[in-house]
Amino acid sequence: MNIPKQDLIEYIPFRVSTLRGDQKIDFNAYVRVNEKYILYVRQGDSFEGARIKRLKEKKLKQLFLKSDDESNYRIYLERNIEMAYDKKSGKTIENRAEIIQGSQQSKAEEVFENPTSLAAYNDAKNSAEKFTQFLQSEDEAFQALMNIDNVDQNIAHHGVTVATLSTMLGKKVGGFDPKQINLITLGCLLHDFDHYHNGLTLNKPLSQFSQTEMEKYKNHPRAGAQAVQDKKHFDDQVIKIIMQHEERIDGSGFPMGLREKDIDPGAKLVSVCNALDRLITFEGVNKTAAYKELMINKIGLYPLNYMQALGDLMMKVK
Ligand SMILES: [Fe+2]
Ligand SMILES: [Fe+2]
Repeated sequence: MNIPKQDLIEYIPFRVSTLRGDQKIDFNAYVRVNEKYILYVRQGDSFEGARIKRLKEKKLKQLFLKSDDESNYRIYLERNIEMAYDKKSGKTIENRAEIIQGSQQSKAEEVFENPTSLAAYNDAKNSAEKFTQFLQSEDEAFQALMNIDNVDQNIAHHGVTVATLSTMLGKKVGGFDPKQINLITLGCLLHDFDHYHNGLTLNKPLSQFSQTEMEKYKNHPRAGAQAVQDKKHFDDQVIKIIMQHEERIDGSGFPMGLREKDIDPGAKLVSVCNALDRLITFEGVNKTAAYKELMINKIGLYPLNYMQALGDLMMKVK
């Protein structure tokens, strides 16, 4: 029998979010269309600035490589992340931030898809710790991360943005020890666990949601928490953030309608950052206007000092 050559080759999926930065790839990447693999990104290409933006706009989550290129891909990944966390690598902060953002996003996606995997969870946890250090030790890191637009309204990217804001806000308002901040960062990455799975279209104002969509939306924190609470490796703090990140101090939040004294301190921090990035990422409000809108329309829903501190932080973002 004459078997087409392509069928003899094994193709392995990998995450598009791991393609970042100006390091050239030394493997070909393929897209699968109707069971066929078509060359999509060539060996020698790199993924910074406008090019990554174009790739993201295609909304592809997964590409494929030939199995004999797997080690080249692993080497690319390691080299990329090592360089990104190295202040002295000679690379621009924008380039480094893009790689770090993509890496965080891919770790979150891994947990979304494999919540039972202890290895995936620990990988995300260790990587959240490195991310927190990067943000806290380099002055330009915050701005560089916030300048990466979430052009494809990716839920894991949204998690990284909420993590960026919450880590900095936690440091600014104080009261959280370093271990707690690391767990809050991880909680932010994973906070919208259910949105990764529930199929809701989030990029429109809530007022345009149908009744069924709204019911699903109002239940997403509970559904997310329920999906992970029996997994022993999930930290309590992370589950609380998944469950309570849509609560508001006046009791108007969901799913429980908790009041300030009953909201977990970590979740309280995340909720205001989440509200801000919802406006930016899913409602298309520009970054400066988003903070103003929050101050006008959401006053009283989040602690005033948190909102003011968030305003100070957002002044650094263009
Ligand atoms: Fe949410
Ligand atoms: Fe969210």
